[in-house]
Amino acid sequence: MSEPRSVAVVVGSLRKDSFNRKLANALPGLSPTALKLAIVEIGDLALYNQDSDAPGKVPPAWQTFRERIKAADAVLFVTPEYNRSVPGVLKNAIDVGSRPYGQSAWDGKPGAVISLSPGAIGAFGANHHLRQMMVFLDVPMMPQPEAYIGGAATLFDEQGNLTNAGTREFLGKFMQAFAEWIERVGKR
Ligand SMILES: Cc1cc2nc3c(=O)[nH]c(=O)nc-3n(C[C@H](O)[C@H](O)[C@H](O)COP(=O)(O)O)c2cc1C
Repeated sequence: MSEPRSVAVVVGSLRKDSFNRKLANALPGLSPTALKLAIVEIGDLALYNQDSDAPGKVPPAWQTFRERIKAADAVLFVTPEYNRSVPGVLKNAIDVGSRPYGQSAWDGKPGAVISLSPGAIGAFGANHHLRQMMVFLDVPMMPQPEAYIGGAATLFDEQGNLTNAGTREFLGKFMQAFAEWIERVGKR
């Protein structure tokens, strides 16, 4: 049996009680053994400033983030929607990972997105803005199944466990499809 594929999970919320983080925490238990998931944190990334992308000036947190993304076989975004797009913290992380020019950490990695909101349309706007950015960055984003999850406040118990059976079943199928997508488009 071949080694599991490593998946960098990027969560688009810094909130302590974030629904998206709770969902991300549930994913390893719903994924096939062919995938090894690890959350890569984005909360300590300074706002991207091109002046800092110079020898001797690069913030260590940018460097660590870039190395962790580069080391992964694939990337999975779990994000809420802010004002019909991705939260600024997530856009910042994408920008940090994309530079210096010609050295993007995202380049060629299979990707997928799960968007989650308390609202009814499951952060559709964020999901599609993210797809647009990542396709530009040469990240083949899994087209199907799509994951727009609404009603976030109803899906977890008081300890933050994902308890909604339908959502668990859907995410299990989503992660299986992502494992197959990585095999199809990923490089070893
Ligand atoms: C600045 C801001 C903008 C928001 N805009 C949207 C929005 O466009 N669509 C939406 O469904 N929810 C919106 N929300 C509500 C978030 O979906 C909600 O706060 C959610 O819990 C954030 O995800 P989290 O629980 O993972 O932090 C917004 C919240 C904030 C703070």
